[in-house]
Amino acid sequence: MEFINKFLFVFMIICVHLRNAVALDNFFDNSSPRPELFELTDFNVPDIKITLNDKDFQLLFYSFECEKDTNPNYLKRNEKCYTAPWVNLNSALTIALNKAYIDRNRLTQTDLALISNVATFNDATQQYEEIPNSVYTLSLPEFEQLVQAGSDLKLEEIFSQPYAIAPIPSGMYFETEEASLAFELDNTVTEKSKVKFSVGGRSTKFFAKVGYNINIKDGNLFGVKQLRLRSVAVDPSFLRDKLAYDLTRAIGLPTLSENFARLYINDNFMGLYAMRDAYKTKWVEYTFGEKNSTHLYTCSDAFGDNAFFRCVNDEEEINDQDPDWNAFLDKLATVNTREQLEEFFDVKSYIKTQVSRYLFGSLDHISGTNNNDMYRIHDDLTGKDQWIQLLYDFDMNFGNFQTPDTHRSFEEDVPEQSNPMYQLLNLNSQNPEVVSVMDEIMRTVFNPNVLIDRIDKLKAFIDPYVKEDRTPDANGNLPGRFPLTIERPEELATYEDFLGNTEFTTIKANQHFNNFNDHTNLQTALGLKQWVIERFKYACEYYNLDCSYADEILSSPAYSNYKIEEVQHDLTNEGCNGTGYACCIFSDTTLASQDPSGDWGKEGDKFCLFENGYQAPKDAVAVEANANGQCWSLAKGFPCCEMTKEVTFNDEANGEIWGIENGTWCGML
Ligand SMILES: *[C@@H]1O[C@H](CO)[C@@H](O)[C@H](O)[C@H]1NC(C)=O
Ligand SMILES: *[C@@H]1O[C@H](CO)[C@@H](O)[C@H](O)[C@H]1NC(C)=O
Ligand SMILES: *[C@@H]1O[C@H](CO)[C@@H](O)[C@H](O)[C@H]1NC(C)=O
Repeated sequence: MEFINKFLFVFMIICVHLRNAVALDNFFDNSSPRPELFELTDFNVPDIKITLNDKDFQLLFYSFECEKDTNPNYLKRNEKCYTAPWVNLNSALTIALNKAYIDRNRLTQTDLALISNVATFNDATQQYEEIPNSVYTLSLPEFEQLVQAGSDLKLEEIFSQPYAIAPIPSGMYFETEEASLAFELDNTVTEKSKVKFSVGGRSTKFFAKVGYNINIKDGNLFGVKQLRLRSVAVDPSFLRDKLAYDLTRAIGLPTLSENFARLYINDNFMGLYAMRDAYKTKWVEYTFGEKNSTHLYTCSDAFGDNAFFRCVNDEEEINDQDPDWNAFLDKLATVNTREQLEEFFDVKSYIKTQVSRYLFGSLDHISGTNNNDMYRIHDDLTGKDQWIQLLYDFDMNFGNFQTPDTHRSFEEDVPEQSNPMYQLLNLNSQNPEVVSVMDEIMRTVFNPNVLIDRIDKLKAFIDPYVKEDRTPDANGNLPGRFPLTIERPEELATYEDFLGNTEFTTIKANQHFNNFNDHTNLQTALGLKQWVIERFKYACEYYNLDCSYADEILSSPAYSNYKIEEVQHDLTNEGCNGTGYACCIFSDTTLASQDPSGDWGKEGDKFCLFENGYQAPKDAVAVEANANGQCWSLAKGFPCCEMTKEVTFNDEANGEIWGIENGTWCGML
């Protein structure tokens, strides 16, 4: 192929043992080997069949369903939710009695006798105490009998979220060590019996079709231990993530491999997913040859305030106490020249990565924060370290981020001029190295000669699978989508949107945060071919590059005279005033937050809307602090979220809930 990669790093030419799998995809040369799993699945979609035990199955599937059915604004009697694995009716009863949701004075002697099997009344504290490890377990009919006798609430009301007598573990944090997996390809089944399976992904955790992480504990699956299945729910074309990994590999940067898979969980078809590996020790082993590396780091805006990189070691035991990482940051703080930096940092691939971000539109990859990993290559012979930046998660690439515009320069699209690394390396449009790396990437892969054909081939290949994924069944349901109270307009993308967005059709997704004012958020995904052609042409002109090699294809009628179509999906949720959230129901709920949709409280640990505005009681000190926007994140140098209700990262370990507002992280009260 014309773009055979001449720029591979020496460290990548490490011989990895691979079975002689037939690589069907000639987009790749063989100098940067991929694990066998990905060679086998080039233009070949496997079925991954996950089996969960009954308890885990209920934890995953019922948690989403019950979250919706126990929301006061969607309230529905669903007995599965009252007998699910997370429910302990003995504890639920004790809580209900102590909070006087069930009034003991209304109960008969028979009722009290029943209660005495599971809880004892303490006269001193006037509270019930649950009998630990009671052999008696209340049945749902018994529980309901007590509710009917001692309360005006219906069963579905007392189990609703504000009462919090049996809180539902969030399905988006589901994980189990006890799954097994069958991998089916070409009528051959490969089984793995020890598999860790969890809901994965960052933003798509909040979508109806979530992503999953698979960790193979008994050996590996055709060379891979860590598999990621991603719903790429924000990408109408389904191809952005795959394209970006392939392009990154083709320009000689170490990266992940991605193909596609159909997923089943306990015989439930869950749809089509992008299937990739992950930056983990096994990846280091087959990419760099180092075994059991403890020098992989995951980065996020939430991890501190270092100006260069905000990352923590992947190993929980090491985490932020890692002396190697701290030494790296200390060195960065003192370097003055590129030569000093090159001693311990892979400058060339950093520059190539930054320039590729401009061409590929990797704009939610701000250096050293989200969608970044770091790895330290240690050379045993010379004793030298080289740190390298690694990017992942490209479903918002190629004109699918904020308000995309193909006619922007490097600085305009990658506005990181204040980043100390950019300053040190002088990364801007005037730097001849930036321009020459850009020219090289464009000649190698980022040009219409290569990419139009690539998009067409991948599109034709996944077409029937996307059609299957986006076609509702007889009951109007799409595969693998869990019920949510807050749905996303991105998930309204249809099969036709896939057909259009892989060409020149812009797909817009407009979220209405309520049903009474214009508090909305609009996401725009340009057609893939529009991005490729227009970003290419713009870079050619703006940077004065000789792009004559693309003259022929660009002057063909299809690519010189295309028409941009536009489709917009609007979505307003149900719930309280169209917010998807419940209305607050208790009279003593305090003000927790305010935004253009109104005043918010918290009940049963969930946000609720004061449908007629919050009326402050006179003595509420805490309320005032909240109303003044005094939230915990100020102390960490991040603003309080003022408008968003969308949780981007729930740091359960530290009890911190993060959102994103105006492009920066913000803390939620
Ligand atoms: C890597 O870790 C595995 C499992 O803990 C161990 O069996 C193996 O010996 C280690 N290899 C090296 C080179 O340290
Ligand atoms: C919210 O809904 C309630 C009940 O329907 C209504 O009284 C109230 O006016 C609504 N609020 C707004 C801002 O539309
Ligand atoms: C985001 O921008 C809006 C509008 O300019 C502003 O009202 C709000 O305070 C900003 N939020 C944060 C967290 O800075």
